[in-house]
Amino acid sequence: SCPQLELIPVIDSTNQHLLNQIGQLPSGAVCLAEYQQAGRGRRGRQWQSPFGSNLYLSTYWRLEAGVAAAMGLSLVVGVAIAETLQQFGAPDIRVKWPNDLYCHDQKLAGILVEMTGKAGDAAHLVIGMGLNIAMPTVATDMIDQAWTNLSAACTPLPSRNVLAATLIARIHQTLNEYEEVGLRGFVERWNKIDNFLNRPVKLLIGEWVVEGIARGINEQGALLLETDNGITAYVGGEISLRGC
Ligand code: ATP
Ligand code: BTN
Repeated sequence: SCPQLELIPVIDSTNQHLLNQIGQLPSGAVCLAEYQQAGRGRRGRQWQSPFGSNLYLSTYWRLEAGVAAAMGLSLVVGVAIAETLQQFGAPDIRVKWPNDLYCHDQKLAGILVEMTGKAGDAAHLVIGMGLNIAMPTVATDMIDQAWTNLSAACTPLPSRNVLAATLIARIHQTLNEYEEVGLRGFVERWNKIDNFLNRPVKLLIGEWVVEGIARGINEQGALLLETDNGITAYVGGEISLRGC
């Protein structure tokens, strides 16, 4: 069935817009904006969201299994987006744990999952995606890491409307699949397109830095890092992965 869809020219953040309406939204409701005045990433970081032809979209999802099951969501949504972009002919689309999409070692898209809900109850999730399609040069000074546009990778560039519709359908289908089978059905697919698999990386954990070789994710969605002490599984939102 068709999701409820809201198209907004200018908004603070599509994630915030849906978070403000939790309780009034049907699961699967979608909001798209042309421009975000306060687009955000993880932990208070900004997502540059200029007017132009990028995609800024969020969807509300009610997850009956509750907040504990929400951990793997950015991973499965990453797989959904990557497989969709591949289907449109984009080469070398990869994932970076826990919430980014890369192309040729540069950041192409980011996923932000935010939620409310008490332990034992259904979780109310807002899943947002920012995808660079053709970034106007004005916005780029503010991005302090290597990034790219879909237009640089993909010729011919698909229609933005077709791309948005396909991504929304694929994300919803993937969320249903995740509710049925959990992360199990996704681990292999994720590892196959892991940008850092078998590469030297460091994990920034607050003040701590741990270096090792990235070995993909496990069935819990934890990042596996091999050091001289063997393989350790890392979980949690406070960890940032960086290539060495
Ligand atoms: P982490 O690995 O912890 O997620 P991150 O640096 O990827 O670290 P995020 O919160 O995921 O941080 O994303 C926000 C960061 O993404 C910003 O600090 C900036 O470096 C970068 N960024 C902001 N806007 C864009 C954009 N439109 N395209 C690509 N990268 C962007
Ligand atoms: C990240 O890399 O940390 C995630 C970036 C997520 C950006 C998207 S754009 C649509 C939605 N609204 C927001 O404010 N953020 C997400």
